[in-house]
Amino acid sequence: MLNPILRCILISSYFIKINSSKTYLCISRIERVMNKDITGFSKLSKEEKINWIANSYFSNPKEGISILKQYWNSDEQLQKLHDDFIENTISNFYLPFGIAPNFLINGNFFSVPMVIEESSVVAAASKSAKFWATRGGFKTTILGTEKIGQVHFLFKGSSEKLERFFSDLKPKLFLETESLTKNMQKRGGGILDIELKNKTTELENYYQLHATFETKDSMGANFINSCLEQFAKTLKEEALQFEDFTENEKDITIVMSILSNYVPNCIVRAEVSCKVEDLAEKNIPNPLEFAEKFVQAVKIAEIEPYRAVTHNKGIMNGVDAVVLATGNDFRAVEAGVHAYASKNGNYSSLSHAKIENGIFTFWMEIPLAMGTVGGLTSLHPLVKIALEILKNPSAQELMQIVAATGLAQNFAALRSLTTTGIQDGHMKMHINNILNQFQANITERNKVKSHFENHTISHAAVVEYIEKLRR
Ligand code: MEV
Repeated sequence: MLNPILRCILISSYFIKINSSKTYLCISRIERVMNKDITGFSKLSKEEKINWIANSYFSNPKEGISILKQYWNSDEQLQKLHDDFIENTISNFYLPFGIAPNFLINGNFFSVPMVIEESSVVAAASKSAKFWATRGGFKTTILGTEKIGQVHFLFKGSSEKLERFFSDLKPKLFLETESLTKNMQKRGGGILDIELKNKTTELENYYQLHATFETKDSMGANFINSCLEQFAKTLKEEALQFEDFTENEKDITIVMSILSNYVPNCIVRAEVSCKVEDLAEKNIPNPLEFAEKFVQAVKIAEIEPYRAVTHNKGIMNGVDAVVLATGNDFRAVEAGVHAYASKNGNYSSLSHAKIENGIFTFWMEIPLAMGTVGGLTSLHPLVKIALEILKNPSAQELMQIVAATGLAQNFAALRSLTTTGIQDGHMKMHINNILNQFQANITERNKVKSHFENHTISHAAVVEYIEKLRR
């Protein structure tokens, strides 16, 4: 997002360049944009906020207001629920909620809810799911569920003394967080370990309390952050009492206490495999050639970061869609997954493939910090529905479903890319968006669809054809 002043400079230079007589018009626009800062926006009523936005930014305020309100829910209670999720809410932003059926995961069938705006993604996941359902399905395994949080602090003094202090401190850290961990412990979770880490070779005076957690069915962000803030408090207080510390050493500076979204020990593995000859299908007449090219495509993503990013983006098309549908934090998942993709120092493919003894195997391991209780999972009615469609999974089960969907998506993308190319299928789906954009009627829709059965689809070609129909 451009900052308003920069935007104005750009707007003004544009106007001055194309037509000096428009300079005056531009200046009045600059003033309009520049003068609209506001204090106390959050104190305004929803109606007042909308009016302010409309009068400040919309070329047609009446129409803009009506579009914002068109997306309000007529059920006031439901609307209030959504308004209260965040601050300064003025409307709702819809995304499609679709279903990819026929996912066979560890012998059980799932219909996977997906929330995503990109056409082709749900179709691709469904196609992959069906393909693998007749070839043994997805095999998934949880390899770890450990979460991480850190207290970052500065200590100016002897690191040996700090280590001795930490041996005394550690049991107190567990003790002082008992009221926070009691319920989590009943569910089988809690604090797993706390370590002191000396980072002073990388940054002067910098140390960490590095803690690991098991948060069972909750994503655990609140639990972890509460524990960390208590650790920080205890650390600071206990340092003041530690007799071996000098006055200077007693003065520990807490910089911050926060969970890490990098969770390399909260990992799920998803895999599909079958005999190479069983890959044969209508569009895969030569399964060995297909399998070899597929493996090659994965190897390229393993060594070439430009390709790896797009390859992994395809995986995230599936992962994010389920993460969103189930009310989980997709930003946390995205950050953690991409950090994991770079764990060896180079950004690389999350998935891998091989052909061994006539068997084609395609798999990936990804970090996923997921929750099925707490947060949005118990608040958003559609999230509850999504979880019900998934048979109310535990967090571990959800990790496995998400990973299978990501792998399915990756399989679909590579299958298209190494055979027909993706534009064919993608543009077929995209036709619908173009038809909607042109508010095409049923007859126009049918004509467009049948015409493009045998013609190359491009945005321009579809638009031109619709315009020709309407002439
Ligand atoms: C598009 O959203 C995703 C793909 O680009 C993924 C890939 O290239 O593997 C098709």
